[in-house]
Parts: sequence; C-alpha cells; structure tokens
Amino acid sequence: MKFIHITDPHIVPVPQTLCALDPRERLTTAIADINRHHRDAALTVMTGDLAYLGEPAAYRDLRTLLDALDMPYHLLVGNHDDRANFREAFPETPVDENGFVQYVVPTRAGHFVMMDTMEAEASFGIYCEKRFEWLEAQLTLLAGQPVFLFLHHPPFDIGINSLDASRLPDADRLANLIKKHGNVRYMFYGHVHRAVWGAWRGIPTSALPGTNHQVGLTLGDTDEMLGTHERPAYGVVLIEDDCVNVHLRDFIDESPRFPLLDKASKNAATAADLPSVPAEFVGI
Ligand SMILES: [Fe+2]
Repeated sequence: MKFIHITDPHIVPVPQTLCALDPRERLTTAIADINRHHRDAALTVMTGDLAYLGEPAAYRDLRTLLDALDMPYHLLVGNHDDRANFREAFPETPVDENGFVQYVVPTRAGHFVMMDTMEAEASFGIYCEKRFEWLEAQLTLLAGQPVFLFLHHPPFDIGINSLDASRLPDADRLANLIKKHGNVRYMFYGHVHRAVWGAWRGIPTSALPGTNHQVGLTLGDTDEMLGTHERPAYGVVLIEDDCVNVHLRDFIDESPRFPLLDKASKNAATAADLPSVPAEFVGI
C-alpha cells in the first residue's frame, strides 16, 4: 500500500506570509505534485500544525487547498492548532468521547491510529489520562493486527535542544503500553520540521520537513531554535510484506531528469547521452 505523509503546513490566512514564504503556495505545490506523481496513493496523513495561529480563516483556506487532493486525507492537530476552530472547519474528522482529535483509519496495511498530543496554549505535547485510556482501548481492540501510530509530538529526544524541550513527556508510559500490546509496527510524527529517521524502544520512527519552513540542525549546547529555508518535502510511504519504506519527495525540485545508464551497454551514461543542462544549472 502506498500513502502520503505530509506535515506542518502552518497555514496563515490570505494575504499573510510566514518566515518570508507563502505556506498556502507551498501546500498547493505539494498537492499538485502528489496528484501528478502519486495519484495511486490510498490516502494522505497530515501530522499537525495545520494552521500557524489557529484562526478559523486559516482552516477554511486549508480546506480549500485540500479539496484539490485526489485522495482521502486524514488530519491531526499540533501545538499551533486550535482544536475548536479546526473542528468547525473539518466537522467530519472524528473525535474521541472526550473531544480529542483521535481516531482509527482501517487500511489495507493495517490500522492507522491518529493521536491528539495537543495542549492548548503550550508548545510541548501532552498525552493525558483520558487519551491514554482511549489508546489502550484501541490497541486492545486491534490485538494481533498491525497498528501504525501517527502523532504530532515525538515521545523522545532527537538531539535538538529547542525541540526536545517540547517533546511528549510520559515516554515510559507510552512505551510500556506499546510493548504490552505488541502490535505497533511504526510511528510517524511531525513537529520537528526536519527529516529524521530512527527507532525508539524498538519501534521504527520517522519525521519529515514541513511544507513551509524548517528548523535548523543545531546539535550541541545551544537552546536557540533557528528557522531555515531548507527544502520542504513530503513522504511517500510504501508498506508491503511487513516492510515499511519512506521515500522523501522534494516537491519544489525542478532539476533535470536524465538516464543514468546507457540503454545498450547498461554502463553509466556518458556526457554525450545527457540532455543539455539548463543554463541556471551550469557551474553548480
Ligand atoms: Fe510545526
């Protein structure tokens, strides 16, 4: 099964921009690229920070943009979101019995469990008692079936102090719950605005750049959070035969494509085989 993971669009209402970029334009470009190259994906999951300041107008704009997507989409909330305004714009998104944006999506590869780690007025994540009870109930219901977790805040450090300060606490409790049930195969998260791959307590994990701005790689002692204009991306995720592959797609890349191998000899293509390179690429 193929699906799209995309995250942190930070939509602001027209005509605002953010970090000297236009989040709406960036998401529009991403959606057009998904439709062009991955129309066969089963669905898209967006892991939070849908709107930068959570205004109703931002969610209305987001809805208009997502209407162009040629597949079903499923949304999570992040620390920049406003749960009430989100629900007003996306009333069809399920919530749990306590109003948290938590729900389960059955797929051909297994069940996608969407978690709500948002704490109002805070940048850090919270997973409270009620939300834990919901997750425990879902994992119990899905006993013996593959589960893929989606959440905005990671429950672990990634080595960037400013982001680690706003991760999800209660890591041991979540890890113990996952271990007890034994059916979680993978964890997809947002929040960090960078491509990060790894494993946490034996569970493979990945995060992606945001569609607008990124967070600089400031490993070490500094607590400063740097914004950057590093390139955005979305993830093309393939799940087959109990194997997960995440391909990073730089959707603003316009560099030329050319055959790497000579068709006759199967050797590396020579310079003569290559198409003429646009002038703007010469010398890079
Ligand atoms: Fe974000």
